[in-house]
Amino acid sequence: MSGIGRVTAIRFAEAGADLYLVDINLEGLKAVEGELQKFGVNVKTFKADLSKKEEIDALWENMEDRLPDILVNNAAIYPFKEFLDVDRAFLEKIMNINLQSVFWMCQHLIRRCIASGRKCVIINVGSIEAVMPFAENLVHYSITKAGVIALTRSLAREFGKYGIRVNAVIPGGIVTPGVQKVAKELGEKALTAGQEYLKRVPLRRMGDPDEVARVILFLASDMSSYITGAAVPVDGGFLSA
Ligand SMILES: NC(=O)c1ccc[n+]([C@@H]2O[C@H](COP(=O)([O-])OP(=O)(O)OC[C@H]3O[C@@H](n4cnc5c(N)ncnc54)[C@H](O)[C@@H]3O)[C@@H](O)[C@H]2O)c1
Repeated sequence: MSGIGRVTAIRFAEAGADLYLVDINLEGLKAVEGELQKFGVNVKTFKADLSKKEEIDALWENMEDRLPDILVNNAAIYPFKEFLDVDRAFLEKIMNINLQSVFWMCQHLIRRCIASGRKCVIINVGSIEAVMPFAENLVHYSITKAGVIALTRSLAREFGKYGIRVNAVIPGGIVTPGVQKVAKELGEKALTAGQEYLKRVPLRRMGDPDEVARVILFLASDMSSYITGAAVPVDGGFLSA
């Protein structure tokens, strides 16, 4: 578990939330679990490949005893590939991890919330690439994130009557291990892309994962009780400029 997910877990634990942490990377999960000990909240970790529906179903069966009130769908991948080189296996993988997992996770929570009469809150992590495709060779990624935003709005529309709120955050360029790995792979190209991005960002800098985590926490809390169906940019002003 890394990047925006890790810092969001820290912010939620600091706010007193018990947590179920889900990630494919067990080592990362355990490291974050260790970091959260000082907050004295209850933390359970689940290793799951969110691209597989069977693993998502098993996950929800495992936590049947305690229904979460808040779901944050953050896990995603963003490998760069030229549109003309994308094959079926590649596209299916990214669709499964980035979009279908969000669909199934939302379905599980909403089904249980309606059955138990509880109100719940969902925050999905989108991307500026869904709204303003900017980086090259990310067509496959942009469409998954556009799907995440469409899903967010549709669910907000459909389930608001149950008091269920569904919102998205739309991060811009945030310095995370995922981004650092991609930048290393791309080398010189990443440098140019980064410079192009920064030229357009009014705040003239990349974001910190905690700047996204704090907005996720706000959207999860009653501070945002009249917000649903929103896609909130956390992008240093990129989408406005
Ligand atoms: N960092 C940015 O600049 C940026 C910009 C826009 C949107 N986002 C979005 O923010 C979210 C977090 O990105 P990040 O930069 O922190 O990424 P990251 O790579 O640092 O972290 C992603 C996490 O997802 C997990 N993961 C990947 N595949 C998985 C799978 N199949 N099953 C379960 N877990 C899996 C990874 O193990 C990792 O812990 C993503 O949805 C990403 O698309 C990031």
